[in-house]
Amino acid sequence: MSSLFDTLVVSSLPFVPKPIVKTFASRYVAGETLDDALATIRALAAEGAMATVDVLGESVTHRDQTVATRDEYLRVLDAIAASGLPANVSVKPTAVGLAIDPVLARENCRVICAKASQLGIFVRLDMEDSSVTEATLQLALGLKSEFPDTGVVLQAYLRRSLTDLDRLIAARMNVRICKGIYIEPRRIAWKGHETIIGSFAAMVDKHLAAGCYAAVATHDEECVQRALATIDRLRLRPDQYEFQMLLGVDPVLRKTLLEAGHRLRVYVPFGRDWYAYSVRRLKENPSIARHIVRRIVGLGPSE
Ligand code: FDA
Repeated sequence: MSSLFDTLVVSSLPFVPKPIVKTFASRYVAGETLDDALATIRALAAEGAMATVDVLGESVTHRDQTVATRDEYLRVLDAIAASGLPANVSVKPTAVGLAIDPVLARENCRVICAKASQLGIFVRLDMEDSSVTEATLQLALGLKSEFPDTGVVLQAYLRRSLTDLDRLIAARMNVRICKGIYIEPRRIAWKGHETIIGSFAAMVDKHLAAGCYAAVATHDEECVQRALATIDRLRLRPDQYEFQMLLGVDPVLRKTLLEAGHRLRVYVPFGRDWYAYSVRRLKENPSIARHIVRRIVGLGPSE
């Protein structure tokens, strides 16, 4: 019953007025400005956590927008370097033009990576839906040959990912492993919860056992536990991997991992285009979406 209610709640989110969504989404986003992002990174650093900064905005249709996003990343890189805070950047390939023209995306990324490499900052390409998986991997591998401090993401729900890892291991790529957030057809994606966890654990194990750096991005205790088992079996040092979590999700798990001596990085999105990102996060957490609906229908908090 509650899962049917959750499904209804989640599917009604597009009809909820933006100011109300914003109230609940604010935990997932640092704010609209670079100063907001820096304040969040500073607070995380005080906890012992590192950050990766995402300038919100994806699937753009105009070349000018991609250049504006690229320039915003340059400002972010300068600000990170000037602040001395432990942060790097995550870039969505479609935000810099991958869906318009792969050459445009590559040129924008090259400008970002050149600046980052001058400043000694790592750049990761996020992974979006399956229409751009291959293009993103090719983009990342091309950049990696020119800028060693470049990484990418693989999604454990895609059937192809365990094999894709071979190419990334051959390039000694730093890979973020996550479950995957987009809705993909069964033909190409594992659907069972346990199957996705199994795929996640196998990928983490394969990447770390090959001696490559893995970013284990999850809030799922079973994925964390299985990664810890691999780390223990391989006797890895804390500088050979890191855990990653999203801003606003499970601060208790974050603290636990930090206190146990693991490196942990928080994904810090900021910018005016907060809506699409926030709705994805709310869909992952129907209990928060439920608060939104209760507020709309004039009921108080549900707990
Ligand atoms: P799961 O969704 O099962 O969550 C486990 C538990 O975490 C839940 O029971 C809940 O308690 C808590 N939780 C999870 N999401 C929550 C939320 N939004 N609000 C509150 N609680 C929540 N995906 C992708 O396709 N491409 C990418 O590039 C990235 N990048 C990325 C970076 C980082 C740092 C992280 C942590 C995640 C991503 N993702 C991503 C998203 C990822 O694919 C996945 O959708 C989410 O991490 C949720 O999966 P979990 O492994 O956390 O498990």
